[in-house]
Order: sequence, then C-alpha cells, then structure tokens
Amino acid sequence: MGFLLEPRSSRTSVVPIIFSCFWLIFLVQLSVARVIQLKWEVEYKHWSPDCIESVVMATNGTFPGPTIEATAGDTINITLTNLLFTEGLVIHWHGITQKGTPWADGTASISQCAINSGETFVYSFTVEKAGTFFYHGHYGMQRSAGLYGSLIVHEAEPHRQPFRYDGEFNLLLSDWWHQNVHRQEVDLSGVPLVFIGEPQAILINGKGQYNCSIAAHFDESANVCNFTKKEQCKPEILRVKPNKIYRIRIASTTALASLNFMIQGHKLEVVEADGNYVKPFLVDDLDIYSGESYSVLLHTNQGPPSGNYWISVGVRGRKPGNPPTPPALAILNYYPMTPVSKHPNSAPPVHPVWNNYTHSKLFSNRIKALTGLKSQNLEYKPPPLKQDRRIVLLNTQNYIKENIKWAINNMSLTLPSTPYLGAIRYGLDNAFTQESPPDHYNSPNYNIENPPPNGTNAIYSNAVYKLLSNKVIDVILQNANALTEGQSEIHPWHLHGHDFWVLGYGEGKFSDANETLFNTVDPPLRNTVVVYPYGWTALRFETDNPGVWAFHCHIEPHLHMGMGVIFAEGVEEIKKMTVNKEALVCGLTGKMFMNSHKD
Ligand code: C2O
Ligand code: CU
Repeated sequence: MGFLLEPRSSRTSVVPIIFSCFWLIFLVQLSVARVIQLKWEVEYKHWSPDCIESVVMATNGTFPGPTIEATAGDTINITLTNLLFTEGLVIHWHGITQKGTPWADGTASISQCAINSGETFVYSFTVEKAGTFFYHGHYGMQRSAGLYGSLIVHEAEPHRQPFRYDGEFNLLLSDWWHQNVHRQEVDLSGVPLVFIGEPQAILINGKGQYNCSIAAHFDESANVCNFTKKEQCKPEILRVKPNKIYRIRIASTTALASLNFMIQGHKLEVVEADGNYVKPFLVDDLDIYSGESYSVLLHTNQGPPSGNYWISVGVRGRKPGNPPTPPALAILNYYPMTPVSKHPNSAPPVHPVWNNYTHSKLFSNRIKALTGLKSQNLEYKPPPLKQDRRIVLLNTQNYIKENIKWAINNMSLTLPSTPYLGAIRYGLDNAFTQESPPDHYNSPNYNIENPPPNGTNAIYSNAVYKLLSNKVIDVILQNANALTEGQSEIHPWHLHGHDFWVLGYGEGKFSDANETLFNTVDPPLRNTVVVYPYGWTALRFETDNPGVWAFHCHIEPHLHMGMGVIFAEGVEEIKKMTVNKEALVCGLTGKMFMNSHKD
C-alpha cells in the first residue's frame, strides 16, 4: 500500500469578498488579501527519503518542508528559526519577484546575512501572482541537503485561471545522494576536484526508492521493499475518477538532474510554466529542469479507467552513471480500484534517451505565452521590441590555479561577507569590487567548440552588473565546450526578482544578426530557462524592481563552483530604501549599522 494523494478539489473562493458599489469601476481588489503567519524551525533530522536512512534538513519536523498555499495578493510572514547546531541558514522564495521587498529574497551574502544558529529572521513579502512556486535554502549547498518545499498561489477572485479542472495534485521533484552535502562541498572545491556523481535516487514529494523499485514491489516473486516499515519513502499514489480533469503541478528543485515526466497511456496538456499561463499544448512527456515549474492537465478519459498506470520521472541531459539513477515511480490510480489490487501490469514507460536534445528543443520551442486574456491583471504583455542594453554571458569551465571552476565572461562568482544589498544601501564601496564585469566576453574570437585554450585561467570575482532602472535588458546565455573535449553541459539559468521573456534558442555562437530569430510576439514569461550544449538562449526583461538579484545556473554544484552573476538594479533607488535591520547583522554592514544605530 502506498501513500494516497487525494486531489484537492478546485477552489471556489475561500477569501471573503467585499461588495462595494465601486466594484464595476475597480474590478481589481475585489478579494481581501490575507496575511498568512507561519512559524518555522529548521533542523537536521534522521530521515529515509529513498528508504535508506540519512540526515535531512527538516522544516517543522518534516521533509520536504510544509507546503504554503496562498491566494494572489496575500502577504506571507514567515518567522524562521535556525535550529541547526553550527550553521547559518537562509530560505529563498523561488519565483516570487519580491517587488519592493528585496530584503526578503533569502539569498545569503546577496540580500541578507545568513541567519545564525539559534537566531530568528522574519520574511515578509507579498505573492502578487498565481502560480506554482517553491522555496529552498540558498546558502552553501543547503538546497541539496533537503531544505525545500512547495509554494502554491491560487488566483484571487474575480480572476480565474484560463482553464477548468476538477481537482489538483502537487508534485515536487528532487534528487538525492547518500553522501552528505558537506562532503560534497569539500569534494567539489578540492584539488583534484571530486565530482558528486549522479544521484542515488529521484524523489517525488521527498520520496524515492533506492535499490527496491516499486515496479519490483508489485512483483510478488521479486525482492521487495518493505514500505510498511518505511513510511517516509512510500511511493505517491494519485487517486483519480474517470472522465475528470486534474491539474498536476510539477516543480523541480533538483541539485543536478534534468528530468522527464510522463504518465503511462496518458497525454498531458501543458498550461502553466513558472507561474505564467502558456498556450495549451499536448505532450506525451515533458522535460523539466531544476528551477522550473509546470502545470499540466490530465484528462482521465484516455483509455480504460479500470487500471492503474505508472507515473515516471526519469533523468535526462547527463550521461547515466554506473549504476544509472533509476526513474522515480508513482501510481495513477482510478477509483474505485485499490492501488494494489490492480497494479500496473506492464513495465513503466520508457523516457527519451538522455542525449536526445532534439526532443528537448522541440518541447522548449512549443512553449508560447497565452495571449488574449481579457481580464486585466492576467493580460500578457509582449516584450518591448528593442533593448537598451545587451549582456552576453559566456559560460565556460576553467582552471583557477589548480581548481576547476565555472566562469561567466571569465569570472567565477565568489560572494562577499557583507551582503550586496546592505552594502549598496549604505554606500560601502569596499564591501565588494566596484569594477564592472564585461558586457561581452573579452575575446570575440573565442571558439565555443573547443575547451578553453591552455593557460587561459579564469579569475575569482564578486563584481556586479549595475542596471539602471526602467531599461530593457537583453541577456544572451552563450554555452561553450567545458574543460573536457567534446563536452558541453545543460545549464538551467534562474533569475531572481523578475520574470523574463524567452526570446529564443539557437545553435552555435550568437551574433547580433540572430535577432531576426527572436520571438517578440508571444515569447513565454519565465524565471528559469535552459541553455543547451553548444547553443545560446536569449532573454529580455525590464528593470522595474530595484534590488540585488542573483542570476545563476540552478545546478547546485555549478553555482557552488561559481556559475552565476549578480545584477544590482536601481542603485539610486536602493540607497533610499527602508532598511530591514535584521538582514544586516554581519560583515561591514553589520558593524556599520551597530555603530550608527545605538538605540
Ligand atoms: Cu531557486 Cu537562486 O535559486
Ligand atoms: Cu550549470
């Protein structure tokens, strides 16, 4: 028997509505925004995510952490206490733009000081937009250690999502290693570098099965996992009724793995990506990279409703390890069948092979914004047609002395001890280098098809791109060959503080002439986008949100090895901002603050 997931029925309004005589004029603000108060404690705890006992970062005693459900417009207050014995802590709210609240972005050394062991910090921010989001640790590799959970925002009356459904499920995907994260950090920073390898298990809502697949569980003769003893790794079972429509929210917070999601015998209709509605399209399977989220609609009128079906999440985009990471499995169970009386009697479906990038690119290119939503705050806004500034970011793997690092325009990101946001607020110029990193990589003749030429070492840097307010910024992510010949990796890049338009993807080296390939009609808005091996990805956003925002590869070991940049947006506006004192108690800002505010 597995863990049963009952669908949440589609929400009618849970928020009181004020009927005002102005409502015809002011359709917005019909529903009353709530304040959601949460008290959280984070600690290390014994847990068996894949049936093997490990230690996880648990939030309020559970792994993954509690799911937050809110309505657009709500304010969320989280009083977070660090109960780790000797480590700092922060939590980032992935996909939430933090308009006006950059102090609550939850990025160590960027928006705030890490919360010390035993101390408490209050995150307070508004969730402006409906969508499927999540939260995770953003200090060292704490996300890999299991510090994550879901954050779901529903539409507020009178707005409705542009599709209907009878119930919904939420699946948060992650990957899991038996090796502890501190060991991984040391291995990745070492000479020679020891790579963390492929994960031991893929987890669905924190549950996976190492060395005892549930496929085998249903085969009486096979060596089975005893789930009765292992509540924590019991596979998910999604119970559905025939002839209904279910919304399945899928988000990936993997440390490394690119994933592929499919349900045996069922097509899925993609309707949301990263909290933005997309033109619905049908797929047999979908790719999901770390940092991304989707909603798909599952129509339960496909084939005989008498059986159960496999839900499978397999790894793609990296050469399988030895042994390969097995797919994570869950079961789609039709009422009134019980999950075990009628288990799927065929093998789980097979995912596209790991390096079939053509398949992945086809999927990426099918994602278009849903336009023509009349109700005001859901209306899609196409991108401005021209950029004010274009930043080309060359992704390379380099040596810095003996160490292997990732570098962007030849700079490998290292974070300062004083958070950028506070340093900029107080004009502490010595907190980080004031030199700007280059908008283009230095050598226009750089050959992206080959490893970096010998002797071209990268440098460590904590420099920031200063972005003026109210400008249109283009970023071109340019992939290249890594240190090993014939190897170029997938990198899912995530931007804090903004959604951006994905203008397009291309092969080889970007040149301004490629602009003609840009989609400026209905490019999807997203907060994470992948750059394919040896290719480029173009994105555009407007600087309407003063703050200091990280833009980085969402693969945890890659970020640890320097794969990111920092955007300091609206520096003049930041200098006038009200300060969240608690965010500044470390480094120079902390000292300065203490000295000048002795009240
Ligand atoms: Cu979800 Cu900076 O990350
Ligand atoms: Cu990467």
